[in-house]
Amino acid sequence: MLPQPWQHDVIALHGPEFAKDPHAVYARLREYGALAPVEISPGVGAMLVTDYRAALDLLNDPVTWSKDSREWQKTVPGDSPVLPMLGWRPNMLFNDGETHSRYRRAIVDSLDMVEPHELRSTVVQLADTLIARFAADGTVDLIGQYARVLPLLIFNRLFGMPDSYSDRLVNSLAMMMESDPTHAAEGNAAFESYIGELIGSKKQQRGHDLTSWLMDHPSGLADEEIVHQIVLTMGAGHEPTTNLIGNALARMLSDDRYYSTLSGGALTPRDAIHDVLQNEPPMSNYSAHYPRRDVFFHGTWVRTGQLVLVSYAAANAQFGRQLPGTGGGAYASGGGSHLAWSAGPHSCPAKQPGLLIAMTAIERLTAWLSDIELTVTHDQLAWRQGPFHRALTELPARFTPLTPEQAGATPWDNSLSSSIRPEGISTARTTDSANWGRPTS
Ligand code: HEM
Repeated sequence: MLPQPWQHDVIALHGPEFAKDPHAVYARLREYGALAPVEISPGVGAMLVTDYRAALDLLNDPVTWSKDSREWQKTVPGDSPVLPMLGWRPNMLFNDGETHSRYRRAIVDSLDMVEPHELRSTVVQLADTLIARFAADGTVDLIGQYARVLPLLIFNRLFGMPDSYSDRLVNSLAMMMESDPTHAAEGNAAFESYIGELIGSKKQQRGHDLTSWLMDHPSGLADEEIVHQIVLTMGAGHEPTTNLIGNALARMLSDDRYYSTLSGGALTPRDAIHDVLQNEPPMSNYSAHYPRRDVFFHGTWVRTGQLVLVSYAAANAQFGRQLPGTGGGAYASGGGSHLAWSAGPHSCPAKQPGLLIAMTAIERLTAWLSDIELTVTHDQLAWRQGPFHRALTELPARFTPLTPEQAGATPWDNSLSSSIRPEGISTARTTDSANWGRPTS
C-alpha cells in the first residue's frame, strides 16, 4: 500500500538534506503517486507534481489552474521567505488570461527585437570584461565573480542603461540577497532608484533598448506595468541564467568527458548545457498554480486555492537512469524532452536568448582559461538550500594566470575600459533569494 501523508512527516524541500541530494528526495516523493505533499519552508506546505505527464496536463490547462496567488498568500505569514518568489505582482507570471497575454506579448515582442548577433557581441564583450578582472589572479569563484554578475551586466545594457550603471544594479541586488534585513532594505531602495532612473531616462529619450520598446508597445502599458514587467524579466532572467552557467561549468570542470573537451575531446559546452537542462534544471521546482475548484488530479484530490508546484527536476528524471560520474545522484531521462523551460502559456519566453547567453559565457571562459579546473571535487560543492533553484553557492577554480602584457590576444583586448567595477556577489545566504517580481515601490 502506498504511504499516506498522515503516516509520514511531510518531506522538506528545503534545508541541507534536500540541497545535498534532491533526487533522493524526489524518489521518496514519487512513492505518493503523481503529486506529493511537501514543506517548502518551515510551516508552509504545498503539493508537488513529480510526474511528467501530470506536469504537462497541469501546465497546459489554464481553465482549471490559475497563477493568481492572492488568496493563497493570505494563509502565509507576511515575512515568509517564500513570498518573494510566490507573492502576487501585476506581472505576467502571476496573472491569467487576457492580462497575462497582454503583458507577455509586450515582453516577447520586445525580446524579439534583440538581434541574436547583437546579443552575442554584447555577451562576448561583457564576459571578456569580467574575465579580465580575475584572469591575472589564477583563482576565481565562478559563481560570485562570473555567472552571477554577467547576466546583470547584460540586462543593464539590454534595458538601455550605460555600462557605468551596471555596478549599481549588481550591488543593489547583492545587498537584497543578504540575510541582514537592513542591507536587504538598502538594496531594495538602491534597486528602486536604479529602475526609477532607467524609466526617467527613457521617457526623456528613447533608445535601441528593451525599455523603449516596452514603452512604445501597442499594448499601451502604464508606467507601473512597465516597471513590473522589467523587474520580473530581470528577476526571472537572472537567477536561472546564473544557475545554467554555473551548473554547466560545474559539470564540465569535474567530468573527464567534458574536461577533455577543452583540449579537443568529444563533449562540448552545448552538451553540458543540455545535460543540465535535462538532469539538473536551473529552476528545479516552480510553476506555482492554484486550482479554481476542488479537482481530482492524477489520483489525488487538490482543494480550491491550494498551492501546487511542478518539479521540473523530478519530472525530467522520472524515466531516468543514474548518470555515471556526475556526483549528487543526477539522472538522465529516457527521452530527449525536458521541462526546464516549463510548458504551456507560462513557459519561459526567453529560451533562445537564455541559451545564447549561457553558451557564449561558457565558451569565452573556457577559451581564455583553457586549463581551468575546480579546486574541490563535484561532491564537495555547496548548493543553496531553498526549494526553487538548483544553485551553487560558489564554484572555486584555478588556472594559469594571464597578463595584459603577454604575447597574443588576451581578454583585456576586448574588455571595456569604462569605470564598471562591480565586486563579485556573495551568495552566503543559504536559502533561495531570487526574486521574481519583488515590487520596487
Ligand atoms: C537561461 C536559463 C533560463 C531558464 C532555465 C528559465 C526557465 C524558466 C521557467 C521554468 C519559467 C516558468 C516559470 C513559471 O511558470 O512559474 C520561466 C518563465 C519566465 N522566464 Fe525564463 N528561464 C531562463 C532564462 C530567462 C531569461 C534570460 C529571461 C529574460 C530575458 C527569462 C524570462 C522569463 C519570464 C519573464 C518568465 C515568465 C513567463 C510567464 O509567466 O508567462 N528567462 N523561465
